[in-house]
Amino acid sequence: MSSKDSITFRIQPCYSVSGKPVIPGDKSISHRAIILAAIADGNSKINNFLQADDTLATITVFKKMGVNIENNVQNTIVRGVGLYGLYAENPTFDFGNSGTSVRLLAGLLSSQKFNSKLVGDESLMQRPMSRIINPLQQMNAKISCTTSGTLPIKIEGNQEIKSIDYKPPVISAQLKSCLLLAGLYAEGTTKIYEETQTRDHTERMLSNFSHPVMKKSNQIFIKKAKRLIGCEINVPGDFSSAAYFIVAAVITPNSNIILDNVGVNPTRSAMIKILKLMGANIELKNERVVSGEPVATICAKTSELFGIEIPKEFVPIAIDELPIILIAAACAKGKTRLTGAQELRIKESDRIQSMSDGFLNLNIKIEQFDDGMIVEGGEFSGGIINSNDDHRIAMAFAIAGIISKESIVINNCKNVATSFPNFISTAKEVGMNIDYV
Ligand code: S3P
Repeated sequence: MSSKDSITFRIQPCYSVSGKPVIPGDKSISHRAIILAAIADGNSKINNFLQADDTLATITVFKKMGVNIENNVQNTIVRGVGLYGLYAENPTFDFGNSGTSVRLLAGLLSSQKFNSKLVGDESLMQRPMSRIINPLQQMNAKISCTTSGTLPIKIEGNQEIKSIDYKPPVISAQLKSCLLLAGLYAEGTTKIYEETQTRDHTERMLSNFSHPVMKKSNQIFIKKAKRLIGCEINVPGDFSSAAYFIVAAVITPNSNIILDNVGVNPTRSAMIKILKLMGANIELKNERVVSGEPVATICAKTSELFGIEIPKEFVPIAIDELPIILIAAACAKGKTRLTGAQELRIKESDRIQSMSDGFLNLNIKIEQFDDGMIVEGGEFSGGIINSNDDHRIAMAFAIAGIISKESIVINNCKNVATSFPNFISTAKEVGMNIDYV
């Protein structure tokens, strides 16, 4: 295996996948569980916490603020310090590649007694932060970033945070969650208008910690909190990680994959609806609610897919799955059109560009727009892909390698460890011929 800085995957076609792989814990839910447990009164126990670079970055930041966290494979115990118990002396926090950690924690850190500085890796240092800075300033936070709206963020603590009525100008669960966390400390009631629904894990997680938000049609209300109460959280398998194996089964002949205990929160799982519109054979079984989150067993089988116009309303609730959905589109009869996905340009890489470049290298015809692309179904030729250090691009093209004519080599795959460190061994379990180069 190559060194962590230059990880390359090679996938050789195997033309059939099957099995019952275990999908690791949900990244979004794992972050939120640690954050709320850290500021709760008493201990919390988190089962199936995602052990990956992004979520470990969140743990590291809280440890630096004096929170005792015992992170074991079986479970993660967080000894909460209460809403006002975090402390560090002028810390600089490094969030690595994790946009969720930095944006959510900016809301929390704006409300603390101490100053802080927030930085990240090369990719995170370029991602837009003004979307959180502006409303936090309106809440009276003393927070700033660079003139180009990027990290480092600097926060001056010890401010009286006040509530706001806010209508976000961008569709973002990270922004909403940032404001909900600041809202825990803000005098009065913070009101957020969410015209287009985004993932609601923060709202659900707050109920687990005994501080429920109120919802009225498209408005969310959060009151200043007196206390959060520690609890036990069972983190479901991550739908975004399951997505690679759902598509693997659907696009490959003679294939059948069963994924147990996967989160199917409707604000996350629109990919199922999109793939079904394309003709996919996907069934949900044993649907239940665990720690306030809908969970199911997902059964996916070989399917004949047809190109579609992806309904715009599904885009925000399938945002992280769009790269792998585009892989499915490349295996469908006819053309698939994705629009309204401008946000893809500012993820861990410019995902519209990364997917377009990858498709061209694999002989798939595309047309690129500002906010999406048209993909014409075809056959993957095999070739070399640059993931641009983006975990979701790397894993999406790895799945294409199951049915390509020749092998696919994917460069710059180290960040697969940000969300799915066991991707290679899980892929091998279903029969994929994948290895490090
Ligand atoms: C996330 C929200 C989404 C998503 C990201 C995780 C979260 O980002 O892309 O991977 O956990 O809140 P945006 O809120 O920027 O759309």
